[in-house]
Amino acid sequence: MKKIYLSEVDSTNLYAKSNIENLADKSIVHAANQTAGRGRLQRTWVNLGEGNLFLTFVLKPSNSFNEVYSNLTQYLSVVLCKILEEYGLKPQIKWPNDVLINGKKIAGILSETVMQGSLFKGLVLGIGVNLNTSEKDLASVIDKEATSLNLEISKLVDVNLFLDKLAEEFFADYDNFLQKGFELIKNDYISRTCFLDTEICVQVFNDKKCGIAKAINDKGELVMSNNQKEFVLTIGDIL
Ligand code: BTN
Repeated sequence: MKKIYLSEVDSTNLYAKSNIENLADKSIVHAANQTAGRGRLQRTWVNLGEGNLFLTFVLKPSNSFNEVYSNLTQYLSVVLCKILEEYGLKPQIKWPNDVLINGKKIAGILSETVMQGSLFKGLVLGIGVNLNTSEKDLASVIDKEATSLNLEISKLVDVNLFLDKLAEEFFADYDNFLQKGFELIKNDYISRTCFLDTEICVQVFNDKKCGIAKAINDKGELVMSNNQKEFVLTIGDIL
């Protein structure tokens, strides 16, 4: 696995996308500081400064897109949960891939497909984890309640050690995951999911879908029901 270290970049995902031709499959791009982090659904990822993790996995598994690639964000959320559990924490996954501790967001994951015309070039799978942040800086994250690993364990966290562990655990089962798909992690994912069997509303682009979150199906989609009618969501943001 090749590691590219940048002291500062606009976004590790953008860097990986722009340089995908020159980056090997399974490389990782790590920045100490990220000035224009990208988030899901056109949001930004607030820069909480050095001491936090800004990382992108560069993945070039094949020459054409496969459905299973859409589940890589969920695979990464499970990998992260298992690492956080080693710190004695009880992380939860808010569908599709936000990782929370005590209801507060500690990490965000964003996968982007890289195309050149109609050619599939690969994926950039970015993850930001709040590792060392002050309460004061966290207050600048206004859209959601957030937390940071150092605050949860009352200890500073070694960013490089955390990164190495995350990359090692990610690649340990990555090839297997590409073969088997979401079903490989379904139980691990569901056992950490919050909001199942509760009434929720999900923002889906400009639409709001409300109902009971019934299940996560074999494709990692959210199955909901409203007035006895079932429907399935593939994308969205639980409000
Ligand atoms: C989200 O929760 O909205 C996803 C946030 C993803 C942030 C990470 S930080 C590293 C990588 N580079 C980016 O620009 N975004 C991802």
